[in-house]
Amino acid sequence: MRKKTVKDIDLKGKKVLVRCDFNVPMDEKQNITDNRRIVAAMPTIKYLIDQNCKVILCSHLGRPKGEVKKEFSLKPVAKELSELLQKQVIMANDVIGEDAKNKVKNLKNGEVMLLENLRFHREETDNDPGFAKELASFGEIFVNDAFGTAHRAHASTEGVTHYLPAVSGFLIEKELKFLGDALANPERPFMAILGGRKVSDKIGVIESLIEKVDVLMIGGAMAYTFFKAMGYEVGNSICELDKLDLARELMEKAKEKNVKFMLPVDTRIGKEFDANTESKVVKFTEIPDGWEGFDIGDETIKLYSEEVKKAKTLIWNGPVGLFEFEQFAIGTNSIAKALADVDAVKIIGGGDSAAAVEKAGLAEKFTHISTGGGASLEFLEGKKLPGIEALLDKE
Ligand code: 3PG
Repeated sequence: MRKKTVKDIDLKGKKVLVRCDFNVPMDEKQNITDNRRIVAAMPTIKYLIDQNCKVILCSHLGRPKGEVKKEFSLKPVAKELSELLQKQVIMANDVIGEDAKNKVKNLKNGEVMLLENLRFHREETDNDPGFAKELASFGEIFVNDAFGTAHRAHASTEGVTHYLPAVSGFLIEKELKFLGDALANPERPFMAILGGRKVSDKIGVIESLIEKVDVLMIGGAMAYTFFKAMGYEVGNSICELDKLDLARELMEKAKEKNVKFMLPVDTRIGKEFDANTESKVVKFTEIPDGWEGFDIGDETIKLYSEEVKKAKTLIWNGPVGLFEFEQFAIGTNSIAKALADVDAVKIIGGGDSAAAVEKAGLAEKFTHISTGGGASLEFLEGKKLPGIEALLDKE
């Protein structure tokens, strides 16, 4: 069922409570190191300003677990918002306390304010009805644009919808369109590249994609569990020994469904977990004792880069190597470059793969880069996201 958006409701001049996902990375001096999620919220905020609304923004940052901690304050986000909007964003010193209440009361039409970190209250993650009701009392309409938090049934994503008419913002609408269309109506061949540390983190998404894709390419540390399941030694590589049967089942299922299931043919290994460790490329069947696999190798890069050229729809989720270390970022960067040149609908399923594409300066070569990490993963798994389910259905 499609969901109502800000365009489907009359919000002219109204007080609008907007849930955003401003959970952005910061350095130790509280400087924002990646503002993509804030930029992605701009279209909805600007639209609400144009509609002469009183805009009350809210978000979480990190996991302060119900405690007020300075390092989790949203103040740097208010500053960034003010710069991006070229308009002062009023920052509340609390979430539902006196300061927030006064600032909401004095807010004028066309003005924007930001509440403090919702997770300074444990009631947020507990989805406490009393807390949700207090939050809801700030607005006449609720807009959810926090796609990255849509997989959480929290007070500000699900609870408030019991007290206010709830619609989506443009970001959620866009995420649902791109991720949803790719899964429901992909132009074929439809391919997916999945990376990440553990098979166990990706079981749901592998199972779901096996039903839909023509080709599934595996990278990242989870490849070693598959190698081990095939009977090869993996040295010190990350390997889930209790998931070997599952890995075999997944490969079997892919075969039954006629899905081309591709594993790396070689791997870049290192002596130890260190950015400058000695490294070399070996066949995946020949990982020596005492070495650890950290990336796909040159042959795999060639193989996957050739394969993706045939794709008409492509989803990439998870880096194919330890891309935080330069010498093990070769695989991930090469895949990003190979994908950049492919003429297809290309979707990055958020999280670290989005960061990798951004870092490589290739973001504009992709059809859509999701702002969700866990949320896009759950969406790709075919799960219902509570923050989206709770919104009003389109007639
Ligand atoms: C994310 O970064 O994935 C979202 O902001 C959700 O954060 P959480 O995992 O702490 O709920």
